[in-house]
Amino acid sequence: MTELAGKVALVTGAARGQGAAEARLFANAGATVFLTDVLDADGEKTAADIGGHYLHLDVTSESEWAAVVGEIMDQHGRLDILMNNAGIFKPARLLKTSLEMWNQTVAINQTGVFLGMRTAAEAMIKAGNGGSIINTSSIAGLQGEFGATAYGATKWALTGMTRTVAKELGKYEIRVNSIHPGVIVTDMVSEMVDGKTEQMASRQPIQRLGEPEDIAQMALFLASERSSYCTGQAFTVDGGVHG
Ligand SMILES: NC(=O)c1ccc[n+]([C@@H]2O[C@H](COP(=O)([O-])OP(=O)(O)OC[C@H]3O[C@@H](n4cnc5c(N)ncnc54)[C@H](O)[C@@H]3O)[C@@H](O)[C@H]2O)c1
Repeated sequence: MTELAGKVALVTGAARGQGAAEARLFANAGATVFLTDVLDADGEKTAADIGGHYLHLDVTSESEWAAVVGEIMDQHGRLDILMNNAGIFKPARLLKTSLEMWNQTVAINQTGVFLGMRTAAEAMIKAGNGGSIINTSSIAGLQGEFGATAYGATKWALTGMTRTVAKELGKYEIRVNSIHPGVIVTDMVSEMVDGKTEQMASRQPIQRLGEPEDIAQMALFLASERSSYCTGQAFTVDGGVHG
């Protein structure tokens, strides 16, 4: 596959899980891929496995965003794809949500995406090649999820931020879309699904839980020219749960 040949991609939270799967598909499709994370040892290993490049990036840090995008622009003079994937999920009902947990969730899941979109969009506009920004929301950003007050708030925010920013960046041929995964088997949900996989899957229209590759395939579609007329949209990949 060469549909991303000549493109440069940045994936956040790419050391493992969905980010690693997305980075792998992008690299297989011919892109130069920068994997970023705060888990440096895992990130270096994943990058080496897929032939990508690892850079440290805590998505909550404005200066680290500037440094990473600056380095990519210095090396390649372009950034075509921003995959905002990094996120945390700490399940808690409203009355059990501390201010600290709320602020941490907003900082990583929402402010991280704001900083990423702003930094990348500036570079994409300067390079003049258009681009694709993909934000990882959740079905918790399309419907209420019991016990996910802070998480749900941030994922709903991404749904709105995606639509809003898409309207601003369309004239630069920069597309902005969101992906809404259902339950995807990664470290993030391992405690929640352990020993319950079959029971949870049996309640879904498609009776298996999702794999990182399921999300990566949608990300590849949105990163590529195959989705060139799609922007400001929410793409659900959840085995039919939200409907
Ligand atoms: N797994 C699911 O069921 C599910 C469902 C819906 C949405 N999502 C979303 O998918 C995305 C990927 O999650 P995953 O399932 O691969 O989980 P994961 O926990 O395996 O991966 C998340 C990655 O984000 C990184 N990260 C955390 N804080 C960071 C920070 N401050 N800066 C940079 N990186 C940071 C982690 O180190 C990790 O590598 C997240 O945004 C998550 O909210 C996951």
